[in-house]
Amino acid sequence: MGDDRPIGMFDSGFGGLTVARALIDLAPGEDLVYVGDTGRYPYGSRPLEEVRGFAHQISRWLVDVHDVKVVVVACNTATAAALDELQAELPVPVVGVIEPGVASLVLATRNQRVGVIGTVGTISSGAYQREVAAVAPHLELTCAACPGFVEFVERGETRSDQVHVLAERLLAPIVEADVDALLLGCTHYPFLARTLSDVLGRDVVLVSSADETAFRVRAMLESSWAPADRGGRGRQQWFSSGDVEAFRALGARLLGPELDVASAVRWET
Ligand code: DGL
Repeated sequence: MGDDRPIGMFDSGFGGLTVARALIDLAPGEDLVYVGDTGRYPYGSRPLEEVRGFAHQISRWLVDVHDVKVVVVACNTATAAALDELQAELPVPVVGVIEPGVASLVLATRNQRVGVIGTVGTISSGAYQREVAAVAPHLELTCAACPGFVEFVERGETRSDQVHVLAERLLAPIVEADVDALLLGCTHYPFLARTLSDVLGRDVVLVSSADETAFRVRAMLESSWAPADRGGRGRQQWFSSGDVEAFRALGARLLGPELDVASAVRWET
């Protein structure tokens, strides 16, 4: 007997759509409830304590209102801020994006010099530095916070001269460190992959925490509890706490045709 409850997922906005896309492709029979907290984005410049509160509120809503069978924290900042607490407190499994991303980064490098980029909140939390030190202490790690990248993505501007100039400036320490693998430690960043590659050159492998997390969720579905058993395609529900029509329009461009209808969610303060 399969477990037909939906998978719950959230991000500050559009970034988690990179995880959602990968999951829809890898586990097409699963139902998905996605929250883009666009009314409160960006998370990356907020105190981690505040992001932790948001993460609890959204996860609770996914569990209480939508009866999800797993919560995917499709946001590095929220993972850094709240994963341990969510795993301890929620009655369902909780998957974050940091640990799967690092596992894949370790496999990608040949010269053992790696980079991680993320929001100010994620990088200054030290979560990636701790994870790399725990699983691959031999790696030489260079981290760079990239304030401004998320705002470009949320405006749908992924290939402009302005974002290229910003990337050249922010990635300078990564170029300097001569890394051969760079982890995109923010789920918004895969949308900037072409710009990042233009700046870094083709020899640097870009590792997406989004893809790796989707693989992790599918593996959990298959091993620890039953995947959905309805056959055919799952149903997705998309929620935004901000401008719903703007979320639907840009979301459809970034994710694809599955994001055809979006609904509003309002948080009690
Ligand atoms: N996509 C998010 C992350 O992975 C959050 C970006 C933001 O809201 O600043 O960190």
